Amino acid sequence: MSEIQIQIHVNGKPASGLAEPRTHLADFLREDLLLTGTHVGCEQGVCGACTVFVDGRPTRSCITFAVACAGAEIRTVEGFEDDPLMSQIRRAFRRHHGLQCGYCTPGMLTTAYDIVRRIPNADETRIRRELSGNLCRCTGYAGIVAAIREVLKNDPPVARIQPKMRSRREAETGAIPVVRNDYSPSSDSGSGLPSLESLSDTAHLTRSLELDTSVDEAWAVLADPKLIVACVPGAGLIAPIDGSRIEGQLVIAMGPVRAIFRGIGSLTLDESGRTGRLLGRGRDRLSRTSLEGVLDFALSEVGPENSTLTLDMRYRLAGPLSQFGRPELVTEIADRILVDVTRAIESSARGELIDVETPVTLNLFALLFASLRAIVARVLRRG
Ligand code: FES
Ligand code: FES
Repeated sequence: MSEIQIQIHVNGKPASGLAEPRTHLADFLREDLLLTGTHVGCEQGVCGACTVFVDGRPTRSCITFAVACAGAEIRTVEGFEDDPLMSQIRRAFRRHHGLQCGYCTPGMLTTAYDIVRRIPNADETRIRRELSGNLCRCTGYAGIVAAIREVLKNDPPVARIQPKMRSRREAETGAIPVVRNDYSPSSDSGSGLPSLESLSDTAHLTRSLELDTSVDEAWAVLADPKLIVACVPGAGLIAPIDGSRIEGQLVIAMGPVRAIFRGIGSLTLDESGRTGRLLGRGRDRLSRTSLEGVLDFALSEVGPENSTLTLDMRYRLAGPLSQFGRPELVTEIADRILVDVTRAIESSARGELIDVETPVTLNLFALLFASLRAIVARVLRRG
């Protein structure tokens, strides 16, 4: 198989090498760059031993292709040598016997760093849940959990100052987190967007949201891509926003694995009619699942402090994750997500502060579980 030259940044320094398309990041780091601190256990994304940061996010390097990381900022366990927060974590692991054979330790340290940085109020239950994607065969986890609790209790200064590790690109371009958009345009129109005709025979979903906010306030949120994206769980913008063109991503967690749909869209707004259309297409490169669709929305006044948002969506899901795209399931999941979206739009319209920089991940397994339970309950009731 032919090899591809890739350029990445590892632990703050540029690195390059040849990799076959199927070479995993873990192998590339260990065998080409000789960074053997990244361990490989299960090689199927389950044990967490291979966890490294890719563009500031913990990532399983055994199921990430090296070529897919071209241009990315990678941080392995070796890259934390002078990091004050990691020093605290390492000391705490030593004090609480958070390691024995050490095989899981690089992944544990990286995950612990992420927990401390991201969830400063995490209690024991939350720490254990966050660690559930990292397996340890020796310690029984008690020492690891105690070490993380101790670091959190000491209110680590770095965690407060640096709630989100930023990649080089993010730091250079300012406020909106910048991520790579690996989506390659391919469409009839050449714009990368699907045509409306190609979506005419796709799955269809309509919904109506009652908003406790005036039509003007709600429109102010809908017309601002940054605000509306912040209202959708898992969604984030990729800068820059250029005219009506939007580049964005949707992060969906499925247990320890994350699907990241990155793609492009066009947003057109009719201010006078208070209507809009979002047309888009995206792809998760790990699962090779693609999603394309069009969302038409219309806002209408119900009273001085109430409005209705009507959504009409056509979409097509193709690839391994399309098994979750059955209309009944999608409707159930959409209804659950839309409850949060409604609340977020209302909060944003009232001028309450919403975090546009740190999107929460959409937890598909939790949604699926709740949705399937609701569907089964309905079927049983009908029976
Ligand atoms: S080796 Fe990557 S998750 Fe186990
Ligand atoms: S310390 Fe041995 S597997 Fe965790």
